[in-house]
Amino acid sequence: MKVVEAICGRRSVKHFDPNHRLSQEEVTRLLSTVILSPTAFNIQNWRFVVVQDPALRQEIRKVAWNQAQVTDASLLVILCADLRAWEKDPARYWRNAEQPVRDFLLPAIKAYYDGKPDVQRDEAMRSCGLAGMALMLAAKEMGYDSCPMDGFDYAAVGRLINLPPDHIISFMVAIGKGIKPAWPRGGQLPLTEVMITDRF
Ligand SMILES: Cc1cc2nc3c(=O)[nH]c(=O)nc-3n(C[C@H](O)[C@H](O)[C@H](O)COP(=O)(O)O)c2cc1C
Repeated sequence: MKVVEAICGRRSVKHFDPNHRLSQEEVTRLLSTVILSPTAFNIQNWRFVVVQDPALRQEIRKVAWNQAQVTDASLLVILCADLRAWEKDPARYWRNAEQPVRDFLLPAIKAYYDGKPDVQRDEAMRSCGLAGMALMLAAKEMGYDSCPMDGFDYAAVGRLINLPPDHIISFMVAIGKGIKPAWPRGGQLPLTEVMITDRF
């Protein structure tokens, strides 16, 4: 499948075949593709919680406006991020680099994030946003539909998955075999409104 085909064909599907599950090999292939998504300074701050326990899915659904995707999708991925990934042994993010590159980058990483909670949080959302789109497009290429979701109680889901205090949830993505088409597109804004040339 061509990338543009996947972008145009991806829609937010809300009804999935509850009897279908992705194989472990498919999950590994999918997530192995997703972790090639870019992150600033290659800090790879995303953490992907793949919720496989049906009872936990039920609990999450209760705090997610009872949305059926949460339990019925083949796969539920909660995109989280480690706010302190930048300071957790950052040398490993550049272990293949030449020493002069490491000498330059490691202090730069610290200078960029240290003492800046807003920057840490923004970076978490940027990384998860990029990974989330990669996840949905790679799923599409594998023949699956998806639905990005932020319609849930973040604190409650955090408690259910034992989210560590220095991590945050960005959003979740349900993936599976769609059994009903997505709603017709809501209506895209004209390019003339959203595309700005040079300056606002
Ligand atoms: C961050 C985010 C959160 C969303 N949350 C939900 C959700 O909780 N439930 C849902 O059914 N759709 C959710 N959506 C899907 C949007 O409604 C959908 O992307 C939008 O209407 C455009 O439709 P399309 O994705 O089919 O092109 C969400 C989308 C995004 C990007």
